[in-house]
Amino acid sequence: MSRIADEKVLVLDFGSQYAQLIARRVRQQQVYCEIIRHDIPAERIRQLTPMGLILSGGPSSVYEGGAPKCDPGIFRLGLPVLGICYGMQLACEALGGKVENTPAREYGRARCRISATDPLLAGVSPETQVWMSHGDQVAEVSDDFLPLAATDTCPLAAVRHRSLPVYGLQFHPEVTHTPEGLKILGNFLTTICKCSGTWKLGDFARETIDRIRQRVGQQRVICGLSGGVDSSVVAALLWEAIGSQLSCILVDNGLLRKDEAESVIEEFSSHFQTDLHVVRAEEKFLAALAGVIDPQQKRRLIGHAFIECFADEAARIEGATFLAQGTLYPDVIESGGARDGPAATIKLHHNVGGLPEDLQFDLIEPLRDLFKDEVRSLGLALGLPEEIVWRHPFPGPGLAVRCLGEVTKERLDTLREADAIVVEEIKRAGLYRQTSQAFAVLLPIQSVGVMGDARTYEDVVAVRSIDSEDFMTADWSHLPHELLGRISTRMINEVPGVNRVVYDISSKPPATIEWE
Ligand code: XMP
Repeated sequence: MSRIADEKVLVLDFGSQYAQLIARRVRQQQVYCEIIRHDIPAERIRQLTPMGLILSGGPSSVYEGGAPKCDPGIFRLGLPVLGICYGMQLACEALGGKVENTPAREYGRARCRISATDPLLAGVSPETQVWMSHGDQVAEVSDDFLPLAATDTCPLAAVRHRSLPVYGLQFHPEVTHTPEGLKILGNFLTTICKCSGTWKLGDFARETIDRIRQRVGQQRVICGLSGGVDSSVVAALLWEAIGSQLSCILVDNGLLRKDEAESVIEEFSSHFQTDLHVVRAEEKFLAALAGVIDPQQKRRLIGHAFIECFADEAARIEGATFLAQGTLYPDVIESGGARDGPAATIKLHHNVGGLPEDLQFDLIEPLRDLFKDEVRSLGLALGLPEEIVWRHPFPGPGLAVRCLGEVTKERLDTLREADAIVVEEIKRAGLYRQTSQAFAVLLPIQSVGVMGDARTYEDVVAVRSIDSEDFMTADWSHLPHELLGRISTRMINEVPGVNRVVYDISSKPPATIEWE
């Protein structure tokens, strides 16, 4: 692990939907942070030499049988500990407090009044808004704890142990609905944990490039390109590290967006003068997908066809011993692949495009410690253009999972035109950066319309645009009606075969971002 990650804080994950968000907020303050399993032995934590610990929230009740607990020894390591929500209840219980199921369950915004001076709350307004989300709360603490803040229904909204560096917050400082939450986390990291802030992406880039150079030596590295930000950043790092020893493969599967393959080739060649192999495989993919309507079956077939194309092309590249992949930290955590990390929770369907181990390459995964926002900053630091760095994510199985029902060349072409209008209009309205993912979906039904004097019976396109921090949860974008109107008018006028446009107003959960 690199030097800039020497100074680190660990988040013990008790099953919170916010564990990754906590880690990202810590890293945003230039302190390296890893998520580890909640039951890690105190001795192992000592070996990992963190500057402090954060206990995440979680869905359980502390007094429930089978509720996840931590090794109580962690409170005696002398390390600063910040318990958040469930983490606070756990810390208080472990150190002699009493946790109760509150009659007034509290969800949402609350006014929090600070009642004692403490470095954790330095600089925070005496009355501040916080975000609560809990059924239980700490009802009583032993005299060893000092109350620091309260809300109307929660007398112990923040506490501190009198002799140990252990703190608890009943609210969530990591969410944006707690406007002074970052200040509180920052106080914990700098004043209490004494972190100086060594996690800087420019330094990460330099260290990573050096490490790749040493590991690769005179060998050749293959890198798959998709046009997305992750693979582009991997290619940029490799290009800096080993230049012409890099070969890239782009599989044009015919399921890409309008003009996408060509624009990737162009952007790529203008940035790196390296060996680029474009595999034109539209026919192969369309033949595999003929007559298939089941989404999972589509994913499987596309995954297999991709591996075949990629492996065939890779076999033609002489002397290649390494394969570079754009695996990110959330993938590593969710697949249970991090040492000391929590157990696997991944949705397997997102593994499409993952290559089998028997490809006989050594893997290089330079982004495995990074979150998506860090990959973007790294991309900018490496000089990649904004169009690449801020490109919305695009699923591995491409337009096939947005072309509901059968995937044919004709239907894909309709979808490509409709999709291009969505993206173009959102960009023109200056909203591309504000939205997280915007696209069109071609529905497998037709509807009646009237054009001129004639009755039509044609395709329906759904427009989807979402706002999201991490793609695990998302809200539909509240796009201006004029913009939606322009998208609809253009689509019906310009895309042959479409006579109706609808806007998807479902959030995730319960809907997913993609329709299939
Ligand atoms: P969902 O639809 O699960 O999507 O809410 C969350 C994010 O993942 C992307 N996605 C995929 N990416 N292969 C991928 O590489 C897939 O099979 C896949 N399915 C969904 C989706 O576009 C969104 O960004």
